[in-house]
Amino acid sequence: MKTWTVIELIEWTTKFFESSGILSARLDAELLLSHVLKKDRLQLYLGFDMPVFHPNLSAFRTLIKKRSNRVPISYLTNSREFMSLSFYVDERVLIPRPETEILVETVLGLQKTPCHILEIGTGSGAIAVSLAVNQPTWKIIATDISKAAVDVALHNAKLHQCKERITFLNGDLFEPVIELDVLKYDWIISNPPYIGTTDINELVTDVRDNEPEVALFAGCSGLDIIQRLIADTPEFLKPEGKLMLEISHNQSQQVQDLVNSNPAYTACNIIPDLSGIDRFILATV
Ligand SMILES: C[S@@+](CC[C@H](N)C(=O)[O-])C[C@H]1O[C@@H](n2cnc3c(N)ncnc32)[C@H](O)[C@@H]1O
Repeated sequence: MKTWTVIELIEWTTKFFESSGILSARLDAELLLSHVLKKDRLQLYLGFDMPVFHPNLSAFRTLIKKRSNRVPISYLTNSREFMSLSFYVDERVLIPRPETEILVETVLGLQKTPCHILEIGTGSGAIAVSLAVNQPTWKIIATDISKAAVDVALHNAKLHQCKERITFLNGDLFEPVIELDVLKYDWIISNPPYIGTTDINELVTDVRDNEPEVALFAGCSGLDIIQRLIADTPEFLKPEGKLMLEISHNQSQQVQDLVNSNPAYTACNIIPDLSGIDRFILATV
């Protein structure tokens, strides 16, 4: 029977992924083999001639099959980097996206004193945990309607040794915080579901068939959760407190209109992503 080396496996898998229409074929092949062999990509490069045997070979084959069926790499490696931290992820949570780092960086840049933060829809906990790691004195409450997501977020808080500084709660928007001692927050932040169900066919297969529906969709227009957040937030913010939301690339005007038509808000700013597209709303009460 043929003995496969690292480079042979990478080259074979790259071709196979290319023929399956996967754009990042070589990178994906390397990431999956690194994961199976528990080596980083540099170590793979240094050991191109190393033979790969069972059970690593069969584990790698299983991952190749899943990836060719469009399971995202991060679910196969159970890992995603966010704010230079490594997060555990699986099918229970949305894979954190690089643009969401702008939300975290904006809060870290504007808030100079200890504060209370409420994150709604924490998913993997990427936002809450990054804030807690960067600002150990801040008090953070993070909620999600998905109990499974809260379990993943708690796991990530333990991984990054900040579990004591974040209270994780399960429930619909503000419902889980109503009974808490902390009634008013300096910040309410969220990367809510914002895709319209009518846009489902615009999503790439990797996302549409694998990431949790509850993390992606918010009614026909995608605005259902954003609308509720904008309406309910003022009751939970301290004077001059801020609401920051990630929004879709085509929702900026509608979301500004929602904020501006609510007299509880005194200011509304739009923040672009790194490509200059309006992707965040920052509203002050
Ligand atoms: C787009 S994901 C964001 C996850 C994570 N914060 C991130 O940025 O990677 C939206 C999250 O909101 C949660 N969610 C959806 N509807 C919700 C609701 N009504 N109340 C609380 N959380 C909700 C989903 O379960 C999901 O984890």
